[in-house]
Amino acid sequence: MRENPLVLHVLGARPNFVKAAPVVRALGELGVRQGIIHTGQHYDALMSDVFFADLGLPEPLANLGVGSGSHARQTAALLVGLEEVVLAQNPDLVVVYGDVNSTLAAILVCAKLGVPTAHVEAGLRSFDRGMPEEVNRIVTDSLSDLLFATSPDALSHLAAEGVPAGKVHLVGNPMIDSLFAALPSLDPAPVAERLGLTGRYAVATLHRPANVDSPEAAKELVDAVLEVSRLVPVVVPIHPRGRTRLAEAGLVDGPTVKVVDPLGYVDFLSLVRGAALVVTDSGGVQEETTMLGVPCLTVRPNTERPITVTHGTNRLVTPALLPAAAEKALADGAATPAGELPVLWDGEAGPRIARVIAAWLKGDNLSPASQGRRAE
Ligand code: UD1
Ligand code: UDP
Repeated sequence: MRENPLVLHVLGARPNFVKAAPVVRALGELGVRQGIIHTGQHYDALMSDVFFADLGLPEPLANLGVGSGSHARQTAALLVGLEEVVLAQNPDLVVVYGDVNSTLAAILVCAKLGVPTAHVEAGLRSFDRGMPEEVNRIVTDSLSDLLFATSPDALSHLAAEGVPAGKVHLVGNPMIDSLFAALPSLDPAPVAERLGLTGRYAVATLHRPANVDSPEAAKELVDAVLEVSRLVPVVVPIHPRGRTRLAEAGLVDGPTVKVVDPLGYVDFLSLVRGAALVVTDSGGVQEETTMLGVPCLTVRPNTERPITVTHGTNRLVTPALLPAAAEKALADGAATPAGELPVLWDGEAGPRIARVIAAWLKGDNLSPASQGRRAE
């Protein structure tokens, strides 16, 4: 390894920023030279800049400005931009996060250039290849050199796909590190007041293609959310993907529905912390509600995060079952997690990941005891 090796983090979409912040912070504390490459997959200030501010992320070395497009167009732009920047920066390791198109493109570019990679949030599987994210997860894990798993189920998925156990480290969940770091700042009252909420409320976030891309799916979902709003006011910080389609399906501001712009990280989690109920199709929100003890109804047929059901407050529902499930969740009151909270979701995932990376950069033989738990 070179003197003073360089680690690059490739980030592009909202959840990437939340997962990367603790890793960047912990590597900084170990004195590792590092930089962020922002692909520009998400570019609205409320989908990007606000996260850099709220999470204390350093300015990116570069923003590739790839923007939106079909999967092929966006991924092609990502490949071209990332190849140039990786060649120019000459990193010793590239770290990628989660399952978005920026993650997939960075892994492909590095694999072809022979640049080593690490994948944070490896091994999650919904077993639904109709989800673009599932395709991204499988390819990313098959090409990564270091794989950081957030939950034990990931280890068996990776083993079943033939990933050598020596590459895999069970480290916990950096998204939960970010949540823990933000906890002292999470105050529901001012955000609820700003939105004109008095008393109980629910929060809904909806952006999965299967839910918002077709008028039929959007209508079925919106009808269900409107029924929930007869039980409790619903705030919907709207992801730009679904803005038009959901509005056309009838999700518009009214006495019991508040459709607002995406919220910044601290504002959003403040609102969730004070919510009686969350309705979502987000990956990360399933995890955050589990840790905050807020009942969560996930409108999807499956989840790559089953631990939030077995060890948390999450339940999967169809749109048709959403209103009844909401009524029950509201009647049952504050949720207690279904079992023990997920192992290693303790706010220390970032430091565990950083220790593994620092040892890897030194060429050390990684010992499971000192570096998070290696899959054996
Ligand atoms: C992406 C990820 C998804 C993740 C989500 C997090 C992929 C394949 N999908 O989905 O896994 O859950 O991010 O939020 O990578 N748009 C804007 N402003 C922005 C960004 C997007 O208006 O700043 C709009 C554009 O119309 C764009 C659409 O949202 O076409 C979708 O954006 P895109 O990044 O392709 O996918 P997401 O649905 O955001
Ligand atoms: N989030 C936010 N503001 C919002 C909605 C979500 O800050 O209006 C945060 C949320 O707390 C979580 C992350 O964004 O940390 C999840 O991103 P998203 O749901 O877009 O992606 P997914 O997790 O589904 O990939």
